[in-house]
Amino acid sequence: MPQPAVAPSALPRRTFLALGGSTALAAALAACTPAGAGAPAGPTITPTPNPSGWLPPAEPMAFPKGYVWGAATSAYQVEGATTADGRGPSVWDTFAARYGTVKGGATGEPAADQYRRYAEDIELMTDLGLGAYRFSVSWPRIQPTGTGPANPAGVDHYRRLVDALGDAGIRPMITLFHWDLPQALQDAGGWASRDTAQRFAEYAAILFDALGDVEADWMTVNEPKTHAFVGHWYGGHAPGLRDPDVAAAAVHHQLLAHGLATRAFRDHGASGRIGIGLNLLPAYSIDPVNTRGAERVDASENRLFLDPVLLGRYPDDAIGSAPGQLPADPAAFAALALPGDLEVVSSPLDFLAIQYYGVTGVDPIGNQVEIAPTSAASWQQVRAEGLYDLLIRLRDDYPSIPIVITENGIPDETSALTVDDPYRVEFLRTHFQQAARAIGDGVPLEGHYVWSLLDNFEWAEGYDQRWGLVAVDFDTQERTPKRSAGFYSDVIAANAVAPA
Ligand code: FCB
Repeated sequence: MPQPAVAPSALPRRTFLALGGSTALAAALAACTPAGAGAPAGPTITPTPNPSGWLPPAEPMAFPKGYVWGAATSAYQVEGATTADGRGPSVWDTFAARYGTVKGGATGEPAADQYRRYAEDIELMTDLGLGAYRFSVSWPRIQPTGTGPANPAGVDHYRRLVDALGDAGIRPMITLFHWDLPQALQDAGGWASRDTAQRFAEYAAILFDALGDVEADWMTVNEPKTHAFVGHWYGGHAPGLRDPDVAAAAVHHQLLAHGLATRAFRDHGASGRIGIGLNLLPAYSIDPVNTRGAERVDASENRLFLDPVLLGRYPDDAIGSAPGQLPADPAAFAALALPGDLEVVSSPLDFLAIQYYGVTGVDPIGNQVEIAPTSAASWQQVRAEGLYDLLIRLRDDYPSIPIVITENGIPDETSALTVDDPYRVEFLRTHFQQAARAIGDGVPLEGHYVWSLLDNFEWAEGYDQRWGLVAVDFDTQERTPKRSAGFYSDVIAANAVAPA
């Protein structure tokens, strides 16, 4: 279906990253041209699936007993029912209602209507053989204005959901914040304000009281980087701001919120485990000698989040005016961290959740360039071996902590409804192989969640990017498992991934 002209703010989100502040023409070309065509002259990494030459063994690669196979969604992307049972507005309701922000003028209504259809979706999960389901709680269902007592109807909904999952033998992974901040908190300053971290801890405590008896995994914040950068620097996501200093504040305050919620979790003696979800992007220098640009991209994309959470300190090369950095004022950023903050941010976790979609190349200046084929999401450079490299890097550079991959997936090739998705089968197979390879090399990897269980509302792409294992007809809400769902189900049943 033809789409109305799309405002700049609705360009694919990592295109914003590539075009943002620091980057130049090469990245712009890379983001807009077919796979590989934007790579500059000079030394490049060949865009083969496994640049190292690694080949999967002829026999199926087995996963350890108890390896968790899951699928993930988030509240605003699947629930719909945006005014039901006292839910207040979130920043995404406000943002999507603005002309030109989301393709086709789409909003989170009806999404996949999971608020009403969760029982049916749990049956689909059972058919798949899923061991775990990752969903997020909509903060404005729990506190419609972001503060004050809990809205019982909102809490009851999630109680019913976790109980139904429990009855089906599926472990919940409960994300507390997947970008749908109550609009009232945005009006009071949002993540630019330190107070939002405190509000988040109070909201988290309501849920630990209500659901803390459930044997679940909890994720405090989903991808603080995407929310800070795309939502506050590039304006491509809610709340649609374009201010690098506000983005930097959103980084620190989300991480502080994470740490405060982690402490509240311990104080409540809640069952289960808690972690944070970081989307990480292996950044490969296209110049083997001058790697300074890639180091800065690595700093802003990865270490700005890993170091404070796992090491209790911020890197000194992530923020500044050089290409590849978040172009905020480093002194102003440093001043945000009050004494004691980094101890809170680095409160011990039970696991590190990582979300992996692909890689980037970086030139010596610090421009991101294409080194691998892109999917229908132009920001996604697909290279399964990047997952292995990332896992090994975590093993080598950070204290040992159980790791769970909480998002990993690829969109359909077009926006048309389809159940025939061989590219997703191939994507999953090659990424599972790299996960198994990393486990064999000593990475404490405990589980793998596919993004996503269902086709859903893909943020600024609206309903035009379909990421589900299960197809959703958004007119009828009919669900149909895709070919990849059958593949995944076989992997789960065997607890092993076979060669192609
Ligand atoms: C991740 C988000 C998730 C979804 C996938 C495609 O960055 O966490 O909500 O949009 O990308």
